[in-house]
Amino acid sequence: MQPNFKKFMLRTHTCGELRIENLNQKAELCGWVQRIRDKGGMIWIDLRDRYGITQLIFEEGKTSPEILETARTLGREFVIKATGVVVERLSKNDKIETGDIELKVEKIEILNPAKLPPFLIEDDTDGGDELRMKYRYLDLRRNSVRQNLLLRHKVAQQTRIYMDSQNFVEVETPVLIKSTPEGARDFVVPSRMNPGEFYALPQSPQTFKQLLMVSGFDRYYQIVKCFRDEDLRADRQPEFTQIDCEMSFVEQEDVLNMFEGLVRHLFKTVKNIDLQEVPRMTYADAMKYYGSDKPDTRFEMKFVELNHLVQGKGFQVFDDAELVVGINATGCAEYTRKQVDELTEWIKRPQIGAKGLVYIRYNTDGTVKSSVDKFYTEDDLKAIAAAFDAKPGDLILVLSGKADKARKQLNELRLEMGSRLGLRNPFDYKVLWVIDFPLLEFGEEENRWFAMHHPFTSPKPEDIPLLDSDLGNVRANAYDMVINGTEVGGGSVRIFQRPLQKRMFEILGFTDEEAKKQFGFLMDAFEFGAPPHAGLAFGFDRLVSLFGGAESIRDFIAFPKNNSGRDVMIDSPSSISDLQLKELSIDVKI
Ligand code: AMO
Repeated sequence: MQPNFKKFMLRTHTCGELRIENLNQKAELCGWVQRIRDKGGMIWIDLRDRYGITQLIFEEGKTSPEILETARTLGREFVIKATGVVVERLSKNDKIETGDIELKVEKIEILNPAKLPPFLIEDDTDGGDELRMKYRYLDLRRNSVRQNLLLRHKVAQQTRIYMDSQNFVEVETPVLIKSTPEGARDFVVPSRMNPGEFYALPQSPQTFKQLLMVSGFDRYYQIVKCFRDEDLRADRQPEFTQIDCEMSFVEQEDVLNMFEGLVRHLFKTVKNIDLQEVPRMTYADAMKYYGSDKPDTRFEMKFVELNHLVQGKGFQVFDDAELVVGINATGCAEYTRKQVDELTEWIKRPQIGAKGLVYIRYNTDGTVKSSVDKFYTEDDLKAIAAAFDAKPGDLILVLSGKADKARKQLNELRLEMGSRLGLRNPFDYKVLWVIDFPLLEFGEEENRWFAMHHPFTSPKPEDIPLLDSDLGNVRANAYDMVINGTEVGGGSVRIFQRPLQKRMFEILGFTDEEAKKQFGFLMDAFEFGAPPHAGLAFGFDRLVSLFGGAESIRDFIAFPKNNSGRDVMIDSPSSISDLQLKELSIDVKI
């Protein structure tokens, strides 16, 4: 359906609408002045709005002198209304949709003049990050950023269409809730009416959606803001949006199928991509073969463990290591010594922290050379190469050390090599379910067990006996969806019976009293007929940025925060008045 602009508006068409078919028609356009070219006898102005750009033309001798004079007073980003006749362009522009025509202006009205913008409103802007964020409303005028928000809108619309078609009900849950000790840090809000007490903003609507299942809603979803006070990265914002979902009377398999369906629908309707069946990988395999619970499966380069091939040959570093593990950078045998040294320095940076890098070069002439030739015969090295299925021309890169650390470091190296080899095209989508996460992880510093997903996640029924004997090996009915190495969603089958939930809180070190205080409402609810239920939440910003082919979620959020959690446009956070503090019964003296 085409919007009818004439009915209520100042314009007859948008700046993206007029075509050669409109020749000789009269049109009224409104928009912002993008560019002015004054060639003396002729003036051209690019007029821009959300829909596109239309060229306006003024011609000495044909356009009235007053209009020409007004045109000459215009500056970039002035808001104007132009009335005129659609004419065919002499030199056409096939880069824009209106490029065959221009508007011969008969009347012009300045609706609002504008100061010179602090940066160019162009795809390729000269504005730095801080400046663009300070004037985000101008940044949003840029085509590239606007397209991102339009994409976001489309993904949200299509999500609602799919969820509605599957009988999910959108229910809003509260934003002023209760602080809980698990998960990330909470943002808190002081309560004026309850001095000394605080609300917390939800890190997710987790407990509420479970309560909605107890209420019998059966299928719930919500596109919802969540708040987490954690360190920020390219794919993390302190406030972000989830597509939060929960279902009753289902098992893990049902949830995986339902939401694979959502993602398939989104790929089809938003990207016109037919998604194949989504493969599944256990957490254990993800860690073993990729050193990450969110493997980027756009390329192979799987880990190969080498302990049995390299230990006991006198190379102390490998002999002492818990794990020796490597990857095959296919086709990289030509890497010069300098390139390998540079890679070694790269991996020794404190952010990654490897002690060193061993390489084995499978030369194109069939010989094998390594940085540890002293300890290994050519046959030893060939056996290692065979473990990687390496071919002449390949370069094997090996790390060693404590198993967890070595895997983590090799994951970084694998991703880096993937990027260097051009194997991580953002528009080549590889979707994956990672399943069978451990239920618990041990916090060395705190010397206690933590829920890997959250405390409401159910152990696999067959692993429940291990809760008494081997906590580290209890697997959860928990799953993540990973696209191109980004965790886009995660969820679990929930505990829905009070005794098991109580046991879980005990394991997590809650006293009975603490558990009651924090989550008594949920445990009580479990005694009033809670159905079996399960769900998940997608990171909406991450999903949209992946569709947009970008790693950072910032440009897919209208008004994001910077890396210090600040909104530099409205200058927030900011201090509040003494009076406000007093009303809130907060006494801050720092
Ligand atoms: P989880 O904590 O895994 O699960 O969050 C779900 C998804 O939200 C996204 N995400 C973020 N996106 C941007 N900025 C952040 N700071 C941020 N943190 C998380 C990720 C993640 O996969 N209640 C559970 C879900 C459930 O069990 O149903 C939850 O919140 O893409």
